[in-house]
Amino acid sequence: MTRQATIPDTARVAGGVVLPTLAGGVLKRRPRVIALAERLQLDRTAVGLLRRLHARHGPGPLLLRVPGRSIALMLDAEDVERVLANTPSPFHPASLEKRAALNHFQPHAVLATKSTEREPRRRYNEAVLETGHELHSLAGQARTVVREETERLLANTTELDWATFNTAWWRIVRRIVFGDGARHEHAVTDELARLRLRANWAYLWPKSKRARQSLHQRIGDLLARAESGSLAAKIAELPTESGIDPAGQVPHWLFAFDAAGMATLRTLALLATHPRQNTDAHADLDDPALSYLRGCVLDTVRLWPTTPVLLRESATATSWHGTQLPPGTTFFVFTPYFHRDPEAIPFADEFEPQAWLDGRAEQHPALVPFSDGPGRCPGENLVLFVTSTMLAELLRRGDYRLLSPRTLSPQRPLPATLDNFGLRFAVDPKVIAPK
Ligand code: HEM
Repeated sequence: MTRQATIPDTARVAGGVVLPTLAGGVLKRRPRVIALAERLQLDRTAVGLLRRLHARHGPGPLLLRVPGRSIALMLDAEDVERVLANTPSPFHPASLEKRAALNHFQPHAVLATKSTEREPRRRYNEAVLETGHELHSLAGQARTVVREETERLLANTTELDWATFNTAWWRIVRRIVFGDGARHEHAVTDELARLRLRANWAYLWPKSKRARQSLHQRIGDLLARAESGSLAAKIAELPTESGIDPAGQVPHWLFAFDAAGMATLRTLALLATHPRQNTDAHADLDDPALSYLRGCVLDTVRLWPTTPVLLRESATATSWHGTQLPPGTTFFVFTPYFHRDPEAIPFADEFEPQAWLDGRAEQHPALVPFSDGPGRCPGENLVLFVTSTMLAELLRRGDYRLLSPRTLSPQRPLPATLDNFGLRFAVDPKVIAPK
């Protein structure tokens, strides 16, 4: 027998989990909604609801009552592990909703690809992003980019907020992806931002083929320059199998670097308010791998996942704890529920970077800020490199006091929702000796 949610419970999941996630903007965050979500601590409410459903119905997956659709809410960490490990078959990442949203700006990206082209596109992403390598072969050049931009960001500054940080962040991203010449090429990231806003509406908003083609053309032109030391140069070096469409992969990278910027500034906020971790981070500055700072970023993305919902769509019937679910079922994994479960995770509401270095995080199969299995984020190592390098540059050049919000402290549980747009710091610059 299938475990099925009641109609009121389905309505609660729709109102308490799905709606706030959609309203916040899945593809491009809406700052006003995120500010409100922080004030109301909506993620705490959502996690509480899922815990109650788990207590009442058992491990699930819990079938929601949605007419004409089979949508299953995941409530068990090992079931999450199974779904992610068995991607793309039978659990495919390019679910109906994801395709509807991503097709607005990246129909050829691996994450949106349902056809047999998924595999070569995945291989191609791994090759350019050098997925298995902690340090990308372009790390030397990227480090210089991050150092220069962070130095400029902090020059003559006594306050740091999201807007100033974000301007520097996108300069870094454009330089790493396309080369130094793209530092001021705002048009490419602005056009993408506009398409991402449309994509927030998935099938409820018409697609603009013209805007999508214009973005594709702009990306193609920037890639054609193949500036040395950039991902564009790496693309130019690599052979391309037919059907891959390198320029069609790039919108996802640019879009996903947005999340990495959010994670960077949130990590700085945690370090500014957690003296023990701040001391450990400073001690890590001489480690070329910046392992502790990588752990800091991982724990930040655990605390506030930038991909709070993982979706998978089954190609076959599947059975779960003695119950059957039909093919075409959408599996809905709300990661904050697993990342902040106080019964399973002893450090659920604390900042615990060390857990990513000493094996504790690995013991929990549903701590998945970068997903897991064959669909795991192929950009993870590059992200951890760029974010930890920027944090190291920030820490070397200043001391930070968090002015807003006032809710982060090692003495109390960390908030479930943290608005990155509202972060504001006082900066006390440090003079650093030239190398
Ligand atoms: C904080 C930053 C990031 C986080 C937390 C993150 C996390 C994730 C997650 C959770 C997924 C799986 C999504 C799903 O299954 O629906 C994913 C997929 C992916 N990510 Fe990231 N990501 C980040 C940044 C990046 C960056 C900067 C790049 C590229 C430069 C990138 C490239 C990709 C690609 C290509 C996929 C699709 C993989 C596939 O379908 O096989 N990500 N990422």
